[in-house]
Amino acid sequence: METISPINASAITVGQLVADDIRAAEVFKRLGIDFCCNGKRTLADACARAEVSVDTVLENLSQLPTGNRLGSERFDEWELGFLADYILNVHHAYLYQNLPFIEELVWKVAAKHGDYNPTLLMVRQVFDELKADLLAHLQKEEMALFPFIRQLISANTTETVPFGGQAVSLKAPIDCMEHEHSYAGSLLAQLREFTNDYTPPTDACNSHRLMLAKMEELEGDLMRHIHLENNILFPKALALEVKNSEVGG
Ligand SMILES: [Fe+2]
Ligand SMILES: [Fe+2]
Repeated sequence: METISPINASAITVGQLVADDIRAAEVFKRLGIDFCCNGKRTLADACARAEVSVDTVLENLSQLPTGNRLGSERFDEWELGFLADYILNVHHAYLYQNLPFIEELVWKVAAKHGDYNPTLLMVRQVFDELKADLLAHLQKEEMALFPFIRQLISANTTETVPFGGQAVSLKAPIDCMEHEHSYAGSLLAQLREFTNDYTPPTDACNSHRLMLAKMEELEGDLMRHIHLENNILFPKALALEVKNSEVGG
């Protein structure tokens, strides 16, 4: 990865660093730096909050191999409609497939071991809330926000005004989605805390181990998902909206 000077650390955001090179996400995740819900924080600010020195982060980023970027797509260079399709086909599909499966495990493990390990009941409660919130959130994006973005894309190419010329803006729905992302992030943080960073107890049964592994996988997928929306899709859609309004007079 190219070198970032310490001066830039107080200007560049962690979301931008991950948008530039998705592999930075692994470094940030490892060092406990939130790059998705709080991707708008500068690197310096994010480091201070995570109690990690900027030098440590820069050192880790500089160790990412240069040249071979296989598996590190330049999402920020993708056409907007393609990125929206990718998010739906990969990340929304992941949640529809995995939330019910993890829920089954969570309920099974809580029923079997919750009487002597009450933290598992708290895990179940938080997971149930996360699942319900996420399913409602996906619906809002699929029924309202993403179609809105598609309208903006086609308005840009056909010079027609989206939604029949109604004076509606993306700003409010995007603010709402970002707020929901933050809340989902706080529920994930609780799950991580209650499960001791997804570490299985020594006597954990296989269902319990699988539950923890799947939850950690869910966390990683959701962080990428939120990063792609907060740090790439939403800012680009807002910029397109401004551009369209300028063209439209
Ligand atoms: Fe989404
Ligand atoms: Fe979202």
